[in-house]
Amino acid sequence: MKRENFGSKLGAILAAAGSAVGLGNIWRFPIETGRNGGAAFILVYIACIILLGMPIMMSEFLIGRHTQSNTARAYQKLAPGTPWKWVGRLGVFTGFFILSYYAVVAGWTIEYAVLAVSNQFQGMTTKAEFEQVFTNFSSDPLWPIVWLIVFILLTHFIIVRGVARGIERWSKVLMPMLFIIIAVLVVCSVSMPGASSGVQFLLQPDFSKVNSHVVLSAMGQAFYSLSLGMGCLCTYASYFDRKTNLSKTTLQVCVIDTMIALMAGFIIFPAAAAANYGLTPQDIGPSLIFITLPNVFQQAFGSIPVLAYVFSVMFYLLLIVAALTSTISMHEVVTSYMAEEFHLKRNRSALIETCLSIFLGIFCALSFGCLSDVKLFDMTIFDIFDWTASNICLPVGGMFIAIFTGWYLDKQLFRDEVTNGGTVHAPYFKALIFVLRYITPLAILAIILGNFGLF
Ligand code: PFF
Repeated sequence: MKRENFGSKLGAILAAAGSAVGLGNIWRFPIETGRNGGAAFILVYIACIILLGMPIMMSEFLIGRHTQSNTARAYQKLAPGTPWKWVGRLGVFTGFFILSYYAVVAGWTIEYAVLAVSNQFQGMTTKAEFEQVFTNFSSDPLWPIVWLIVFILLTHFIIVRGVARGIERWSKVLMPMLFIIIAVLVVCSVSMPGASSGVQFLLQPDFSKVNSHVVLSAMGQAFYSLSLGMGCLCTYASYFDRKTNLSKTTLQVCVIDTMIALMAGFIIFPAAAAANYGLTPQDIGPSLIFITLPNVFQQAFGSIPVLAYVFSVMFYLLLIVAALTSTISMHEVVTSYMAEEFHLKRNRSALIETCLSIFLGIFCALSFGCLSDVKLFDMTIFDIFDWTASNICLPVGGMFIAIFTGWYLDKQLFRDEVTNGGTVHAPYFKALIFVLRYITPLAILAIILGNFGLF
């Protein structure tokens, strides 16, 4: 059967950027930035993007485009009869794992969009009221699960339409929409009176706050945000055509992703400062954009209710869009793997992944309610999923990808892919190999071991 491809260069870039840009940028990045001290964290994060993220993204792109296969088969093709296929399989497993808890938060965004559209926040003034709404909703045994299922089904519907008519077409509509909404929100937020201390928090680094935990979090966030280390971009690149310039696409995706994360920071912290909200550490958690933000919107625009309404509706719509382009990419990793490896029809393979993710997702959703006492190392089921996937599975996957391309892969093949058979100039080729061989794997290893106090 002939494999589908993305129909255009723009489609390919937007699909990859759509995977990267998601709740990781708008929900997780501000949480991590807030918890880890603001501007200094951002600088460490940007260093991680350049030193670890870009080389690994390039590697995933070239492995996927060269082999034109799902992530596990890609390694089998390039390294037949070796254990390298396990790197691909770890990726499929991680994708399944992340989708299950990611879709819980994605589901919350639907609830909040509904609340915003039906103007339920109007008249609410105290933090306690917003907390009540969030706690009542997230601990409810039914609605978070309903929205989780709705979100995964939405993803499923796009996935079964296929690569060009589903993923690409929707990315082309959703990504520009997202960019416009987020730009409008930044302008509104930064220009509010009193926003400047929020802006300062993001711009004035305090390096005394940087420790091994901060560096691990920055690295985890970089992998998470760029969708790296689980073969997601490798799978998307398998739909790239031979003319796609891989270095340029890497740069474009990294710049778009980082810009959107920073813009999300510039929506949340200045708005919080303007509303005199005084973010405390308890405010900076998974509930940040569900308790703090709606409150901030009401306080900041309370005197002009229509603005508060528009701001909230736009924000939650934005989250749905961003989350959807990412859940599609996680789903695709597992769907393409099962379809190609077990010779299943795409629809059937997608359905299996949908059911499995819903099943696991239910436990994550309930960990805010009746399962909130089920804890390991003081983490709930949801926290365990998030922490293990972003701080361990993705970086470890990324480390092996770097070792694979840096040490194992045939250098001529590598060069051919990077230069598109000699037609694209790539003067940084030797530096890239050096970074992939020594810097990226050692840095990842040191950061993980350092965090466990082993280094
Ligand atoms: N990059 C996505 C985000 O920032 O929300 C999350 C993600 C998507 C992680 C796909 C991993 C992945 F493979």
